[in-house]
Amino acid sequence: MPALIEPVSDTAIARAAALLRDGRLVAFPTETVYGLGGDATNDRAVAAIFEAKGRPAFNPLICHVPDIEAAGTLVTFDPIAERLAALYWPGALTLVLPRRTGCPVSLLASAGLDTLAVRIPERPAALALLRAVGRPVAGPSANPSGRISPTTARHVADGLGDKVAMILDDGPCPVGIESTVIGVTEGKAYLLRPGGITAEAVEAEIGPLHAPISDAVQAPGMLQSHYAPDRPVRLNASDARPGEALLGFGPDAPPGPNLSPSGDLVEAAANLFALLHELDRPEHAGIAVMPVPETGLGRAINDRLRRAAAC
Ligand code: TXA
Ligand code: MG
Repeated sequence: MPALIEPVSDTAIARAAALLRDGRLVAFPTETVYGLGGDATNDRAVAAIFEAKGRPAFNPLICHVPDIEAAGTLVTFDPIAERLAALYWPGALTLVLPRRTGCPVSLLASAGLDTLAVRIPERPAALALLRAVGRPVAGPSANPSGRISPTTARHVADGLGDKVAMILDDGPCPVGIESTVIGVTEGKAYLLRPGGITAEAVEAEIGPLHAPISDAVQAPGMLQSHYAPDRPVRLNASDARPGEALLGFGPDAPPGPNLSPSGDLVEAAANLFALLHELDRPEHAGIAVMPVPETGLGRAINDRLRRAAAC
């Protein structure tokens, strides 16, 4: 029996691709977080993803492809979508666009919507895998629904180890927070989920991003209680109450776990889920998190933290 966690190599990628083509689930690394991959054109594989995650079936999945040609066979691009793709692909941007007639992706992956979320990841191991599979790969974050996203192969094994055929291990994820999701309809770009590419950076290129018309309908994944550790999370804490673990931010935090001792938001995003995983232990009554500024990547970090605190 081959080990569940396999370090990236040509052989491991070929084996992962064969498993995916065979309808099995494979967890794979991207620059943002690890994805729970399944053949997006195979209804049963897509259903198996929902089942493995325990994800409500109305929550649609992101399809990963290796290049813009492959994306163009699935969805249609208007000029704004083309511009965004040219600016940020490969990278931490997901575009929600109208499905093409004859799009081979399972309707289950779109959860009944006439749009599809598409992304070209930047990580070489992910691109090599997608090229080897030769089909779009549906890939939500590889965690049980409502739990913290995995940024290491070990996180995946802990959460979903008995549900995947293989975990392709390429070390920790450099971005550490999920992709920014932007929907483009009728010439307007909507920020559906803040993420690894900042809204400010996108707005500097294409002008203001619109707020989703309805959070629940536009990005069903943005349920209030999401990204939740088992322990209660308390935000904007200045110190820990008895029994709580303190998650610091910046140079003024007391010694101990710190999202970024220098106050760097990129480093904080990369550390966020790993530190929440680490502090989510029975000996802690809760996790108190120090304030993180609401600018740049801080918006995505605070979004995830508010969801972690919401349940
Ligand atoms: O960084 C990432 O985006 C990771 C890696 C693995 O690529 N994937 C990820 O996927 O975070 P997931 O499924 O956990 O999040 C997808 C988000 C959800 O908020 C979902 O509701 C939204 O994208 N989404 C997907 N398809 C959509 C659609 N057709 N319309 C609106 N929102 C959609
Ligand atoms: Mg997720």
